[in-house]
Amino acid sequence: MRRKRAAASLSAASSPEASAMRRLHLRFPFLLLILVTSAILVLPSRLARRVSPPEPLPCGAAPSDSTAGRWVPTPGPVPPPLYGASCPFHRNSYNCLRNGRPPVAALSWAPARCGGAVVPRIDAAGFLAAARGRRIGLVGDSLNENLAVALLCALRSADPGARKWKRRGAWRGGYFPREDVTVAFHRAVLLAKYTWLPVENPEEVQKDGIKGIHRVDVDTPADEWIDVTKFYDVLIVNTGHWWGTYKFPKEKPLVFYRGGEPIEPPLSISDGLKVVIKSMASYIDREMPSKTLKLWRTQSPRHFYGGEWDRNGSCVTDRLLEEDELESWFDPRHGGVNRDARTVNMVIQEALAGSDFRLVNLTYMSEFRADGHPATWLGKKDAVAVYGQDCMHWCVPGVPDTWVDILAAQILHYFKHGKG
Ligand SMILES: *[C@@H]1O[C@H](CO)[C@@H](O)[C@H](O)[C@H]1NC(C)=O
Ligand SMILES: *[C@@H]1O[C@H](CO)[C@@H](O)[C@H](O)[C@H]1NC(C)=O
Repeated sequence: MRRKRAAASLSAASSPEASAMRRLHLRFPFLLLILVTSAILVLPSRLARRVSPPEPLPCGAAPSDSTAGRWVPTPGPVPPPLYGASCPFHRNSYNCLRNGRPPVAALSWAPARCGGAVVPRIDAAGFLAAARGRRIGLVGDSLNENLAVALLCALRSADPGARKWKRRGAWRGGYFPREDVTVAFHRAVLLAKYTWLPVENPEEVQKDGIKGIHRVDVDTPADEWIDVTKFYDVLIVNTGHWWGTYKFPKEKPLVFYRGGEPIEPPLSISDGLKVVIKSMASYIDREMPSKTLKLWRTQSPRHFYGGEWDRNGSCVTDRLLEEDELESWFDPRHGGVNRDARTVNMVIQEALAGSDFRLVNLTYMSEFRADGHPATWLGKKDAVAVYGQDCMHWCVPGVPDTWVDILAAQILHYFKHGKG
């Protein structure tokens, strides 16, 4: 375009401008040469950029990394643990080392995608630096608390100035002054607000045995986290093991309300779960800017062997399950005592379809780890006699460290590249 106009003005040039025109004329081949050369230089690199595949995600950062792979001994030399029994963010009932349980085996998760490599342990200093000035919130039940403890303890290894932080309704949390990072867990076992309403007239109790109801407001987040969505840059949500009749037996049932009125006809627990997840996910999608990272982690399985938690069920073992044992242990169709995680996960997956949430599937990798629970090492005298073994929560350090490594890889990728 510009060249054509230059040529036109050349032919129309008058004599006083002739010398200038000659200079232009002389420069013309030179200009052309520059154009052609730069085209040769620029084009191939452009083409190359277009055809070369995108940079591969680091091991652990791809969604499939947690759902296809196997446990292997941590490749040597095994790095020293990032924390131990004295981590101040610990919760006593997950602190198996202090409670006398032999250490959980040093195993790493090798995703099928990573060609034999394992998910690397979180680089706590690098993670804090990348998270500078940001806040990571966890909301849900004690299995998310399990994860929060492992994350807090790992990050503290890179910032000894870390201190407890429990504001804004947080149940447990830490502030890391070195990079101005906050990580906190908000305990909201059903996510939605729920209230115990006892029957007022005791005579009525005798009639049908119902002592009262747990009113669940499906459209209202629990007070513990209702105002925090705008505060966090990353949110990791879960719920699951409270949605059963042993937490809410039929004398104290869950009754679901919407807009202040009971939902008619009344919802089953499982339908209530679906409605609550949908409603909480859409609340978060609405409240949080779309660029924030929203992760929903699936429930991890229990490993009761020989009976339910209140029937002498046990998990005193250091043996991992084999792949071909998983179906009989966990597939709900077999009706085993540990079927609840997969049952709940199916509802979660369905309810989150179409939301901004990314599902982080920690279930499959955890199903192998029958060796990872506190079992009888609960740190309280008589706890086993009263509550049975704990084959649902996880020793820390232990399996939740690998959850942390996988989440850290995904969060780090998000911090570096934005919404991927
Ligand atoms: C989690 O991954 C396993 C293994 O691929 C799969 O069978 C299961 O359906 C997944 N669960 C969810 C909720 O995505
Ligand atoms: C559990 O084990 C104890 C001690 O062996 C026994 O007395 C009790 O009956 C068992 N309980 C059940 C429900 O099997």
